[in-house]
Amino acid sequence: MSDKRAIGVFDSGLGGLTVVKELFKALPNEDIVYFGDTGRVPYGTRSVETIKKYARQDEQFLISRDVKLIIAACGTVSSVAADTANDLPVPFFEVVSHAAKAAVGATKNGKIAVIGTNATVKSRQHEKVILSLMPNAQVLNQSCTLFVPLVEEGWYSADDVVVLETVSRYLKPVFEFGADTLILGCTHYPILSEAISKILGDEVTLINAGTATAQAVREYLEGNGLANTSSKPNHSFYVSDKPDSFVKQASVLLGCEIDGNNVQKVDINNL
Ligand code: DGL
Repeated sequence: MSDKRAIGVFDSGLGGLTVVKELFKALPNEDIVYFGDTGRVPYGTRSVETIKKYARQDEQFLISRDVKLIIAACGTVSSVAADTANDLPVPFFEVVSHAAKAAVGATKNGKIAVIGTNATVKSRQHEKVILSLMPNAQVLNQSCTLFVPLVEEGWYSADDVVVLETVSRYLKPVFEFGADTLILGCTHYPILSEAISKILGDEVTLINAGTATAQAVREYLEGNGLANTSSKPNHSFYVSDKPDSFVKQASVLLGCEIDGNNVQKVDINNL
C-alpha cells in the first residue's frame, strides 16, 4: 500500500524549510507542498487569536492541495494553535513535543534551555512536555525576538558581527544557566545554528525540531503503509508575498536549486 499524495508543510515564512530539509533526508521519495506565509511573518509577536486565525487559513490552503498529512513546521503555531487542527480530515504533526522528547534524551545535567518566539515562550509548551517526561529537569525559557527578522533578511552568517552580537545578547542567560541542551524552539533558529554554537560552545547540544519531527512522520507513514515509494518527487512552494526573494533564500537554505516556476503566490486571505 502507498499514498502518493504530498506531505503539506507550513510556516510563517522561511523557517519551516529547516523541517523540509530534514524531510528530504528522512523521506526522499515524498512530494512536498510548502506554504510560507511571507506576507504576514512574523507570527510570534502576535496574539494567540491572530495566530490561530492564520494557522486555520494555512491548514485549509494545504487541504485544498489534497495533501495526505500536515506538518505545522512552526514552533509558534505548534505551541499556541495546535488545536486548530482538531477537525482536519488528515493527520497533523506539530514540532514542539518531538523537540522536547529529543532534548530529554540528550541532556546529561538535566538543564534544558528553550529559545523561541514571544508566543512560544509564553506558552511554556516545551517545558510542560519536558517536565512530564523528566520531572526533575530544570528549564529556562528565553524569547529571541530579533532572530526571525534577521533570518528573513538573510542575515545568518556566523562571521557577521551583527548576527554574533545579537545571538550573544539573547543567549547570555542561557550561558549563565549552564544548560547542556538548547531547544531551537522556533524553526527559523536552526539557520543560526553555527552562530549559536560559536557563542555557546560545541558542548551545548542544539535540538533541531525538524530532525525529530521528520523521523516521527516517517515512522507514521511507514507504519501505516502510506509512504510514497516512487522515486521522482515533485515539490511545490507557495508564499503569500512576492516569490522572488523566497526562491533565492530557499535555494540557499535547502542546499539545492529551487525552480522559480515551482514557487507561486497565493492570496491566503481569499481562498
Ligand atoms: N518559524 C516560526 C516558529 O517556529 C515562526 C516565527 C515567527 O513567525 O515569528 O515559531
